[in-house]
Amino acid sequence: MLDLLLSAALVAPLPAPAALLASRESARLDTAALYAEHCAKCHGTNGDGKGTADLDRPARSFLDGGYSYGNTRKAVLRSVTYGIPGTPMPAFAETLGEEERTALADFVIAMGPKGTVVEPGASQIAIEDVPRVVHGMMPAIPGGPSREPRSLVVGFPNGTTLRYARTRGTLDAVYVGQFLDRRDWGGRGGSPLEPLGTLTWKRGEDFANADQCTSKDGKLLARSIRGAHVIGQGVRLDFTLTDADGQRVGGGQEFLGFVEVNGIPVGMRTIVSVGRADAPVDYPDAAGDPIGTLEVDGEVASEVRRAGDGVLVLDFRAARGVRTLIHASEWTEALAEAVLASLLQKKEGN
Ligand code: HEC
Repeated sequence: MLDLLLSAALVAPLPAPAALLASRESARLDTAALYAEHCAKCHGTNGDGKGTADLDRPARSFLDGGYSYGNTRKAVLRSVTYGIPGTPMPAFAETLGEEERTALADFVIAMGPKGTVVEPGASQIAIEDVPRVVHGMMPAIPGGPSREPRSLVVGFPNGTTLRYARTRGTLDAVYVGQFLDRRDWGGRGGSPLEPLGTLTWKRGEDFANADQCTSKDGKLLARSIRGAHVIGQGVRLDFTLTDADGQRVGGGQEFLGFVEVNGIPVGMRTIVSVGRADAPVDYPDAAGDPIGTLEVDGEVASEVRRAGDGVLVLDFRAARGVRTLIHASEWTEALAEAVLASLLQKKEGN
């Protein structure tokens, strides 16, 4: 009797392989059906972002994997559950159960390249819904800045990573893709990091130190980054300025954020620096003739110049000590509009 009970207990929990396969199969088919019913009209039947719905902004393609709202499974599930406010992406918290939403999140993740979505806890550092700042050692960039033990690396949910050298206060590189991996390089020189994204910009000689400050007579000041703070979707860097004698002559803040132009994030750095009363600070001249202007209420607020490869410089006439660097190679009307909107919004916020 006991034997019988035991063997029944051992056998009962194991479903027959055929039943197991059938239930897996139907679960998969259900998810595909759910996708077709709830998502395909915007994101396309095959996930290419080309649905039949008429939208004021395109739905994401899931095929290339670039997630703007966080590269973790949790972040994707969050987009599905709560939607993306201010965009046509609806919330499914009411329409679908948690199991269905989780299955759909996994379903769309599986459409993209392997490895775009990471799980925190591995050595890989993930970014969820707000920017993230990491300090550590970054490797040399071939043909660019050298290995930097005092790096400050800022990652944004839209997949952009900015790499600074803290003691020089220079932006050395920009990457797009995944964020960082912690590497074991033998424990020398701080916490070793490995950028995982694709290098899209590196500091070169033609950049003309446009993000540095000078004294009144044009001598470069040392700009050292003291701290970094995440504020909403942006990041603020605090820096001090010292002259060649090591005298502290001023300081300031750099604000990092993005404006969106046709659905593409364009990086924007606004540097605000202040000198001592007897030692005003300035910025190195951006070379070349203006390629455009930024107008506010029909008046020129700033001329636009190039600061080398793919970066535009705006110096505001009415605001001494403020310089904005924009990571774009052309100054278009759409970009001007987006920059203006972001500046006005900032003013209102104050
Ligand atoms: C009415 C149109 C519409 C429907 C229906 C819709 N989406 Fe979206 N979805 C969008 C748009 C538009 C965006 C892009 C928002 C943006 O980036 O501006 C988006 C973005 C997303 C994102 C975020 C991608 C990222 O970049 O991080 C996910 C995930 C997503 N959708 C999943 C789904 C799933 C799963 C469904 C079905 C359950 C669904 N969507 C249904 C329009 C839609």
